[in-house]
Amino acid sequence: MHKKYVVFFRICREFLLGVLTLYKSKKIKQNMSKVSIIGAGNVGASCAEYIAMKNFAAEVVLLDIKENFAEGKALDLMQTAALNGFDTRISGSTNDYSKTANSDVIVITSGIPRKPGMTREELIGINAGIVKTVMENCMQHSPNAVIVIVSNPMDTMTYLAKTTSGLAKNRIIGMGGALDSARFKYYLSTALGCPASDVDGMVIGGHGDTTMIPLTRMASYKGVPVSNFLSADVLDKVKADTMVGGATLTGMLGTSAWYAPGAAVSVLVQSIVCDQKKMMPCCVALDGEYGQSDICIGVPVILGKNGWEKIVALDLNDSEKAEFEKSAAAVRSMNSAL
Ligand code: NAI
Ligand code: 2OP
Repeated sequence: MHKKYVVFFRICREFLLGVLTLYKSKKIKQNMSKVSIIGAGNVGASCAEYIAMKNFAAEVVLLDIKENFAEGKALDLMQTAALNGFDTRISGSTNDYSKTANSDVIVITSGIPRKPGMTREELIGINAGIVKTVMENCMQHSPNAVIVIVSNPMDTMTYLAKTTSGLAKNRIIGMGGALDSARFKYYLSTALGCPASDVDGMVIGGHGDTTMIPLTRMASYKGVPVSNFLSADVLDKVKADTMVGGATLTGMLGTSAWYAPGAAVSVLVQSIVCDQKKMMPCCVALDGEYGQSDICIGVPVILGKNGWEKIVALDLNDSEKAEFEKSAAAVRSMNSAL
């Protein structure tokens, strides 16, 4: 009899501990952040989907100027919640910025995408006007948010957001390097014949077909330099394929890609929201780092709850330094068109 009671109490204890853990995890989730995504098009909706699937944010708000468009995307995504098992609440809004109030992170994807044959740079005129207005609206309702810029030409749009908003530089981050690095790892993995998750590598510099710098010398296969496995010619091809990674997809799809861009944004946002301190190349304002100032360009940074928290200095060799300078000059000349 006595033994029965002991077993019974043990079961009750385990049950209560289980309930407590569940309650705590729910509470953590509910305490978690609000992410707003401006532009509910291909990239914006894909960002919302990946963020929800990773289940780290309590709330995602999609906003678009097209009547009912963001509401429709949000409703469609919410109808996947039971199937995909996420708790994130996704809602949509037609240009009502009060719905984005008190966001922790705001992702700006509003603007026009590339069409086949177009460079990212050709989008500058239209997208600059959109990004500036969107930034003003967002800041009114979420003065403490970290801003992630996706709209192209992304380096110039990040510079525009930085110079016109007056926000602290660590709270403005352009997404491009995380996507370009994922494409670089993909091309390396196909050349190596291994899973992309076994490969490490980074792309720094501008987010443009001729401005990005895939760092082949530093790329590794499980910590071993990729040059131990791949010839210089193969590495040159991997580098070239990476640089036109976006243009290749635009040619195939008739518009620019969205799955990898959305996934890259979600990784970046998660590192901020969950204060993960991940290192990834992002477009940030430089103040003498890498020999550059008055520019936003891709360099490795640590991402945490304050936005980008630290710029990581890489030991570039002379030719990599020259490539970075050339890239910065190209980005700067594009900024002069603002
Ligand atoms: P999309 O055309 O599918 O979506 C853009 C959305 O923005 C549309 O739904 C449009 O109604 C909305 N929009 C336009 N003006 C607006 C405004 N003032 N306020 C709110 N919403 C507005 O385009 P997609 O494919 O989603 O691309 C979005 C942007 O992201 C493009 O500029 C594209 O070049 C860029 N991009 C950047 C990448 C990166 O790595 N940085 C990767 C992929 C795309
Ligand atoms: C991309 O890299 C066009 O920036 C867009 O896919």
